[in-house]
Amino acid sequence: MKIKDSVVLVTGANRGLGLAFTQVLLEMGAKKIYAATRKPDTITTKGVIPIELDITNKKNIENQSSLILDINMLINNAGIYRKANLLDDNTMEVVRDVFETNLFGMLSVSKSFAPTLIKNGGGVIANVLSAGCWLNGHGNLAYCMSKAAALSLTNDMRIALKHHSIQVTAIHAGFIDTNMMSNFSGIKLSPHSVAYHSLIAISQGMQEVLIDDMSKKAKMHSIDNIPYFTEH
Ligand SMILES: NC(=O)c1ccc[n+]([C@@H]2O[C@H](COP(=O)([O-])OP(=O)(O)OC[C@H]3O[C@@H](n4cnc5c(N)ncnc54)[C@H](OP(=O)(O)O)[C@@H]3O)[C@@H](O)[C@H]2O)c1
Repeated sequence: MKIKDSVVLVTGANRGLGLAFTQVLLEMGAKKIYAATRKPDTITTKGVIPIELDITNKKNIENQSSLILDINMLINNAGIYRKANLLDDNTMEVVRDVFETNLFGMLSVSKSFAPTLIKNGGGVIANVLSAGCWLNGHGNLAYCMSKAAALSLTNDMRIALKHHSIQVTAIHAGFIDTNMMSNFSGIKLSPHSVAYHSLIAISQGMQEVLIDDMSKKAKMHSIDNIPYFTEH
């Protein structure tokens, strides 16, 4: 998959990692970039096309997927973090809320846009997951569950789309310096470098990108259940 001349839709493109993806795609010569966001007026990057897309809104997704017919790459980046523990009063509510975005949102967007990629002869769907697919820690019940489930979704997408020449790539990272991790004071990766290395890996045909040591160790030692970050 060549990034140059690709036509790409990035969800959650107004800030954080999604914004970095659009910037790196521009640097790498992508032909057209749809910067999908709930707030199109917050997109200020020149050279991208802002579109309104709430990944939890079925009608909105169906409407946009009927209008955007030229993509050959979808980057499922949008996601949320909500603190949740097993014994909280609102555990179920928070878990459902997080799943609505991180799992069902990803599923819904992929399901709606995959036929376009198929019609266009194939391409790439990249799902932004996390080291949290394999790790748990205090407060991270909803987030880690949702990312583990999204990993299963990603594996299924590979099976369903393999014969349609669609490469499905999972992107895993530990801590990235975005708003989501603003309360975490440890070392964080720059969103630009995560986006850059992910796109290079995608262009090399990789189906799984383990961006940092934390992701590599998390996957390797998942059975040991190393504590993920403990405070957020
Ligand atoms: N930061 C990390 O350490 C880290 C590590 C591994 C993986 N990730 C993953 O990386 C992805 C990007 O996160 P980030 O770090 O850039 O976080 P962020 O700065 O909080 O950005 C999250 C993005 O998702 C968008 N979003 C949330 N719900 C949405 C919805 N229903 N519809 C459309 N867009 C929605 C947000 O849009 P609004 O501005 O409208 O809220 C925002 O653009 C997420 O999937 C996250 O789980 C992050």
